[in-house]
Amino acid sequence: MNKALGRNDVCWCGSGKKYKKCHCAFDEKLEAFRMKGALVPDHSLIKTPEQIQGIRESAKINIAVLDYVAEHIRAGITTEEIDRWVYEQTTAMGGIPAPLNYEGFPKSVCTSINDQVCHGIPSEDVVLQDGDIINVDVSTIYRGYFSDSSRMFCIGNVSPERKRLVEVTKESIQVGLAEVKPWGFLGDMGQAIHDFARENGYSVVRDIGGHGIGLEFHEDPWVSFVSKRGTEMLMVPGMVFTIEPMINMGTDEVFVDEADGWTVYTDDGAPSAQWEVQLVVTEDGYEILSY
Ligand code: MF3
Ligand code: CO
Repeated sequence: MNKALGRNDVCWCGSGKKYKKCHCAFDEKLEAFRMKGALVPDHSLIKTPEQIQGIRESAKINIAVLDYVAEHIRAGITTEEIDRWVYEQTTAMGGIPAPLNYEGFPKSVCTSINDQVCHGIPSEDVVLQDGDIINVDVSTIYRGYFSDSSRMFCIGNVSPERKRLVEVTKESIQVGLAEVKPWGFLGDMGQAIHDFARENGYSVVRDIGGHGIGLEFHEDPWVSFVSKRGTEMLMVPGMVFTIEPMINMGTDEVFVDEADGWTVYTDDGAPSAQWEVQLVVTEDGYEILSY
């Protein structure tokens, strides 16, 4: 709530309109939710139309890179090769791969196979095998704006059990998106995904989640996919975040590879799948930015 702002002052959102004709009623509504004990986003998490346009442009590159991967991925290639594609395609379009050197991450993309949950590091030593399922997680910086989305790929003849895991995880994105609307809670989305995964006999990773994104790679809020309806942050127009559940065939317990400090595995060695979508909350629902 911006108490210093007069009703006739220019709105904080960058629209150029008077506060009373712009976000004044919005701020009053936010304040009412806050008074009721809700976790509400602060203004820094609400993107301006100009920023959203910048993120859209970044996301166009992100989507094009994933499309390139989709066309070329196959058994027999190394994950290092995927890393090269991502670096070359991203930079050819004027972007920067966001993972590269991010907190010391050594590559341009995350590639996570079978029981790898996320943050797998591409390597010359990892050759894609017939029957593998792999998540390719692409993130782009373009003119200072961040985009992030990931897809699963089935390599050759994948077992029906693994295929179902990949499909259910993809469906869980739609189940989650159906809950995204202004003045709902992130927990509405989180519980919907969790319930859907459990109905299908799977577990959902608790320790790793989605995130706000746009001006930074990882912004508030942290986004859980095992949360409860009516809890977690209020969703309001202009918020940009990811939905990226990691769904496991076995236990939800995971661990980080001590040797590389990054790769996350399932505790029981059972397969894990993940899809990731980046969206902006709109006046009447959401717009997908990257997928
Ligand atoms: N792309 C991942 C996400 O969805 C983050 C990867 S961080 C990295 O949040 F350093 F491993 F690239
Ligand atoms: Co992400």
